[in-house]
Amino acid sequence: QNARESLYIALNYAKNYYQNNLFQHEEGQSIGYPYFKERGFSDKTIKAFELGYSLDIWDAFTKDALKNGYSIDVLEKAGLTIRKPEENKMFDRFRNRVIFPIHNVSGKTIAFGARILRADKNQPKYLNSPETEVYHKSNILYGIYQAKNAIRSKDVCYLVEGYTDVISLYQAGIENVVASSGTSLTLEQIRLIARFTQNITVLYDGDPAGIKASLRGMDMILEEGLNVKLVVFPQGEDPDSYVQKIGSDAFVQYISDHSSDFITFKAELFLKEAGNDPFKRAELIKDMVGSISRIPDSIKRSVFFQKTASLMQIDEGLLITESNKLALEKV
Ligand code: UTP
Ligand code: MN
Ligand code: MN
Ligand code: MN
Ligand code: MN
Repeated sequence: QNARESLYIALNYAKNYYQNNLFQHEEGQSIGYPYFKERGFSDKTIKAFELGYSLDIWDAFTKDALKNGYSIDVLEKAGLTIRKPEENKMFDRFRNRVIFPIHNVSGKTIAFGARILRADKNQPKYLNSPETEVYHKSNILYGIYQAKNAIRSKDVCYLVEGYTDVISLYQAGIENVVASSGTSLTLEQIRLIARFTQNITVLYDGDPAGIKASLRGMDMILEEGLNVKLVVFPQGEDPDSYVQKIGSDAFVQYISDHSSDFITFKAELFLKEAGNDPFKRAELIKDMVGSISRIPDSIKRSVFFQKTASLMQIDEGLLITESNKLALEKV
């Protein structure tokens, strides 16, 4: 299709433009490149993810692209240029930010994430491309192009929150990693992973938002029939900060020591708080049964009923009865 093709070409042009800024433009060299260096990204990593920099000028990219024959209409449809026709103005969406191109499965640039250099309460930390003809945020995972072969060969996909988590893990030799990029995980994203593996390990940030998102994500993954494990990081750490802090060997060891199945994850999260309070324990058991009930495969369900029964010291038959009730309510 021609309209889509012209967006891909413009987006690829923009990707190269931002990359050139980083390596060849004086502003990119003095501001953008040092930013990535301070974050510990090597040149090889910067190139593998095609990272770039957008200048601190209102319309530097738009002017350059127009001069090179791109139409304003295409630039706007690609989400690169913002037009205010009533004021007869146009300007670049991304300015004075480091640029993270977002690729589709086949490696075409379809969008950008753009990070501010220093925290500023008047501006969002990341600006992202809007939904366009070629970019549907809920259908894509950041890093899938770089990760897909490793996901298939390792037969597990690490799911993280952010761009920099993907990049730091990749640099540490853990290449089978993708990010849901802050949005809550969607079924389309899970199905995308399922093309390469049936096993997902969730490595969300070690903060209340990350834990909440893990709880929601696990139920969706279970419902799609995939296997899920979860890792909790120390408070305030995310995979990027943690791997940069402890190094890749210790990080790999941490993941292997702290990967929990979803029942263990819930128990570790809530059992202490429930203590010996019977009502709280009952709530926790019901919550576990709720998650188990989502699993389509009856053998897998049975394994987790057994696990819950022994962990929570409750009759397994009762759990199954309760689960069947939930299934009936759904119909
Ligand atoms: P985080 O706030 O955890 O950021 O958001 P981060 O990935 O750790 O980024 P650094 O380390 O501070 O650079 C996780 C993800 O949510 C999306 C981005 O995709 C980010 O990577 N996000 C976050 C946005 O889209 N906009 C924002 O303003 C913040
Ligand atoms: Mn479409
Ligand atoms: Mn976060
Ligand atoms: Mn984070
Ligand atoms: Mn981070």
